[in-house]
Amino acid sequence: MKFSIKSVNPEKQRGACVAVGIFEEHKLTPAAEAIDKIADGYISGILRKGDMRGKAGSTLMLHNVPNTVCDRVLLVGLGKETDLGDKAYRDAVRATFKTLHETGAADVTLFLNEVAVKSRDVAWKVLQTAIVAIESTYRFDRLKSKVEDTKPHLGKVTLGVTGPDSRAELAAGEEALQQGLAIAEGMNLAKDLGNLAPNICTPTYLAEQATSIAKTYKLTATVLEQKDMEKLGMGALLAVARGSRQPAKLIALEYWGRGKKEKPIVLVGKGVTFDTGGISLKPAAEMDEMKYDMCGAASVLGTITAIAKMGLSVNVIGIIPTTENMPGGNATKPGDVVTSMSGQTVEILNTDAEGRLILCDALTYTERYEPEAVIDIATLTGACVIALGHVASGLLSNDEELAEELLSASERTGDHAWRLPLWDEYQEQLKSNFADMGNIGGRAGGTITAACFLSRFTGKYRWAHLDVAGTAWKSGKEKGATGRPVPLLTQFLIGRAGQKST
Ligand code: BES
Ligand code: MN
Ligand code: ZN
Repeated sequence: MKFSIKSVNPEKQRGACVAVGIFEEHKLTPAAEAIDKIADGYISGILRKGDMRGKAGSTLMLHNVPNTVCDRVLLVGLGKETDLGDKAYRDAVRATFKTLHETGAADVTLFLNEVAVKSRDVAWKVLQTAIVAIESTYRFDRLKSKVEDTKPHLGKVTLGVTGPDSRAELAAGEEALQQGLAIAEGMNLAKDLGNLAPNICTPTYLAEQATSIAKTYKLTATVLEQKDMEKLGMGALLAVARGSRQPAKLIALEYWGRGKKEKPIVLVGKGVTFDTGGISLKPAAEMDEMKYDMCGAASVLGTITAIAKMGLSVNVIGIIPTTENMPGGNATKPGDVVTSMSGQTVEILNTDAEGRLILCDALTYTERYEPEAVIDIATLTGACVIALGHVASGLLSNDEELAEELLSASERTGDHAWRLPLWDEYQEQLKSNFADMGNIGGRAGGTITAACFLSRFTGKYRWAHLDVAGTAWKSGKEKGATGRPVPLLTQFLIGRAGQKST
């Protein structure tokens, strides 16, 4: 799909379709009003008859509207004007594209940027529209031998801007459009990697992907092999890999958009390409979903793709510890004690708490970059799904400012995150009789004790942890990766790129 943003008159617009908003209680948006006027009240007549009530998420496609020069006019319900918030706006855009894809329309001009969304500017609306539009075309059918042709006819999307400020809005909109398209591309990559079968998306495959991104955007990718990790003393990471036939890797992907003099932001993504639980084996039901246990890693690759596409002025390093977690004769056993790269020892009481084991060594490895800040992203705990559901990612941090910045990026993108505490009292739960710490802290506060474990390896820098166990994929009928938290991370980095050099 090709996107552009233009200043145009709705009533003079040619093409296959013009989409305009309708509020509840028969209230027309300015673009709908303009078309209604040249059409001699055709639209208001339809509203009066009750065929379109303006309910949020409803649509009505009209053909041959009198005196117009476009083939179709799509009415898009926006709900009550005073209620129009983020979710209602996104839902309306989603409904618009769903309806368009069910028609033969090859192009559309959208006039939804002109409606007022509570405390949101045009740039926000454009960015959201681009993301939602591209999401509406996402398919994952590369593993099917026969593909139903559901490819939408829609090839061209014009975002229409009207009104007296249109020149300033165009400039802001153009930038937001490019950002939205880059975020959407990053999300698509993250979704593809998540959705791929775990016999294909192995640690080796992730390493190849990082190398290919590096090639496309002229970045640097380095892949550490098991022997390299042994030399570095990554006993925790390697303990997880012991049961697998697939070799573990540690991937580093470097984007220096601001020159090597400035400290980088490091994104560390959990890359467990399949989590059986190991010897602490998981139950069979829904175990296939543990192919998504590399979605943290996928979001790192997606985010770096997005910022590289934008050419953003930031330094970002992606670090991906990646392995399978399998049972086997050589696998780690509950009770095994290992020494992490930091020198701290860990009693592995449950081999299913493997994410923190691979992350802790990656977090120690990260010290060599002298990072400005470190954010790790991980499908770390089932407890986070219980606490926050599938709406918000869990955020835990040792730095107030960093946490606030991430929360504000999440608020802007609608890629929600919610902060949980990291008080020292929780650290007690990690006590071990036989090593410096255990790798589990019991059922109570499982998301927090997992983060407490990580916090013991992040003392040297500003750090935040995103637990995306509930947000990185959907279960059930619409099973599939969501591409989250690529929007949150990219928005955070867009904010950083706007800050002055230090
Ligand atoms: N990958 C899982 C977390 C997970 C579970 C994500 C369910 C999404 C849905 C992680 O490795 C894990 O198994 N965590 C355990 C930790 C426990 C053993 C302390 C969990 O959450 O049950
Ligand atoms: Mn696990
Ligand atoms: Zn896991």
